[in-house]
Amino acid sequence: MNKAQSPVNYQPIEWKGDFVKLLDQTLLPAEEVYEEITDYHQMMTAIKELKIRGAPAIGVAGAYGMVLGARQLTARSAAGFQKQLHEVAIEISGTRLTARNLFWAIDRMENIATKGKNVEEIKTALLKEAKKIHAEEADATFDLSKNGAELIKDGATILTHCNTGPLATTGYGTALGIVIYAFKQGKKIQVYADETRPLLQGARLTTWELRKIGIPVTLITDSMAGYFMKKGKIDCAIVGADRIAANGDTANKIGTYSVAVLAKENHVPFYVAAPTSTFDLSLSSGNRIPIEQRSQMEVTHIKGVPIAPRYVSAANPAFDVTPNKYITAIITEKGIIRKPITNRKISDKQLKLI
Ligand code: MRU
Repeated sequence: MNKAQSPVNYQPIEWKGDFVKLLDQTLLPAEEVYEEITDYHQMMTAIKELKIRGAPAIGVAGAYGMVLGARQLTARSAAGFQKQLHEVAIEISGTRLTARNLFWAIDRMENIATKGKNVEEIKTALLKEAKKIHAEEADATFDLSKNGAELIKDGATILTHCNTGPLATTGYGTALGIVIYAFKQGKKIQVYADETRPLLQGARLTTWELRKIGIPVTLITDSMAGYFMKKGKIDCAIVGADRIAANGDTANKIGTYSVAVLAKENHVPFYVAAPTSTFDLSLSSGNRIPIEQRSQMEVTHIKGVPIAPRYVSAANPAFDVTPNKYITAIITEKGIIRKPITNRKISDKQLKLI
């Protein structure tokens, strides 16, 4: 990270010269275990199993996955190598469906590979690009956190959903980055964290990160958000994003849409925070965002323990789409896109902030 030191003393992902060191997020908060990732299949498994997760962090993991994949290729000519690398890119792209950052990072990696004249040159360029993506994403979250902190009043109580902190981004965080920045400005703030069923990123990761920094946090179940908003306990809701369409519709962790609707009903500002790498301007609306469907077992079991009758069928869309009309503003590293986002698309003036 160039612009700012990490606000925490752990890193979700690090390039270690020859391998990638990953903090296994599935084991948190009980255990802080690091894994050495030495080949791209291992990286694909880590992404699929959510050992590394959160849209910006997935993008960084995908980029390093391409570096590891490149080391396993056999082609000797630049053209042959680029062709084989494309196969690796397709495989890595298949690990998670919704987070735009993964495809954005892989496109950048493939693009840089086309510029190399021989295999060694391509491999060197790939590593340089992956490190650049990593640093840029971390910097972007610092800048967006600083921008977003303007919206946070001293004494505010903030509701958040899922996990959007340093674990999810490799930098400050998106929604949680704003919270961390505001806290470091000396604002007395507190957080209500939705537990975020089914995989409990809010309960396991958000509370863990906030407690490490010393920010007061109250854990609630997803179904309690409306209760606390109606009671006037929440000053604003801030969430991250996995993909934002050209009209501002936003895909984020399942349950975000419900938070947004409840926020509107209760006159609570609802903010989305994301680096510009999360925008997908090729999609005119959120209806076109692909939604990852995950295993039923994530719903019927918690940590391998069944919580429902055997063989009951369960649905598990991992993300939902919040229509732009519920979003008060989208906070990026380049600035804040405020209302009105029109129904058709983000205006040209607002596009300059993407
Ligand atoms: O399935 P996950 O844990 O990768 O989902 C993460 C989220 O939905 C986050 O809110 C999102 O990536 C936004 S910002 C890091």
